[in-house]
Formats: sequence, C-alpha cells, structure tokens
Amino acid sequence: MNGRAKRSALSALVCIAGASLLLAACGTSDKPSGAEASKGREHYLASCALCHGAEGEGKAKLGKTLKASSFVDSLNDEELVEFLKEGRPSWDPANERGIDMPPKGGNPALTDENLMEIVTYLRTL
Ligand code: HEC
Repeated sequence: MNGRAKRSALSALVCIAGASLLLAACGTSDKPSGAEASKGREHYLASCALCHGAEGEGKAKLGKTLKASSFVDSLNDEELVEFLKEGRPSWDPANERGIDMPPKGGNPALTDENLMEIVTYLRTL
C-alpha cells in the first residue's frame, strides 16, 4: 500500500467512527431511545416480571397490570420513578391487593437511572 492509499483508508475509518458517534448522539434525543427501553426491559425482567408478568400483564394475587394502568398513565416519568423508589406498602389505603409493592421492586441495587429506563420500557407496553 502506498502512502496515499493508506491515508484514504484511514480517512474512511475516521468517517465510519464519526458516523457511529453521530448515531449514538441521535439516540439520546428527546424521544425515548430503543436502547434505553431495551435496558429497561432487562431490568424489568430481572426485578419486576416475577410479580407483574413478563409483558406487564399482571399476575393474580401478585402485581397489578402495568399495561392498562390508569395509575401509571396518570404520573409523568419523574413521578413514576419516585413511586418506584417508595413502593406501596400493604397498609397504605391506596393498596388494593393487600400485598406490598416493595420499594424498587425489592432490588435496592437499581439506580435512579435504571428506574428511568424501566419507566421508558413501561411506556412501550
Ligand atoms: C413482590 C412482588 C412485586 C415486585 C417484585 C414488584 N411489584 Fe409492583 N406491585 C406489586 C403489588 C402487589 C402491587 C399492587 C399493590 C396494590 O394493590 O395497590 C404493585 C403495584 C405496582 C404499581 C402500581 C400499579 C397501579 O395501577 O396501582 C407499579 C407502577 C408497579 N407496581 C411497578 C413495579 C415495577 C416497575 C417493579 C420492578 C422495579 C415492580 N413493580 C416490582 C408487587 C410487586
């Protein structure tokens, strides 16, 4: 390879790297990105699906549906994250099932960012 060919191969590489950077930047625009929702799905499956079902359909005597929940619809994303951090204990008058919705679904390792990803996923259900 002569010097010129090397240089143009190099600039092609730089272009490809630049294009993927641009794509990554597009991913963080105002709409929920697919990447965020799919991370949210992973966290959801690990920490919530046991009680709420793999697709948020809810489970008898466990978690309520998250798909057709007027409660979920009534909160904005930040409010829903706050709700997830608190949960809804069985003694709370708003609790219908008489079973705890544990704070963070019982997984204290979930960060605010993880909870926001879960919320992004819930909005796709
Ligand atoms: C141990 C079981 C359990 C786990 C795990 C769990 N939940 Fe729940 N969740 C419940 C129960 C039970 C309720 C309903 C409480 C009631 O009757 O008001 C509930 C209620 C909710 C509600 C309110 C729904 C409504 O319409 O009032 C949301 C939102 C919710 N859970 C989200 C989540 C998310 C997100 C996760 C994972 C981070 C999670 N839950 C993990 C048991 C669970």
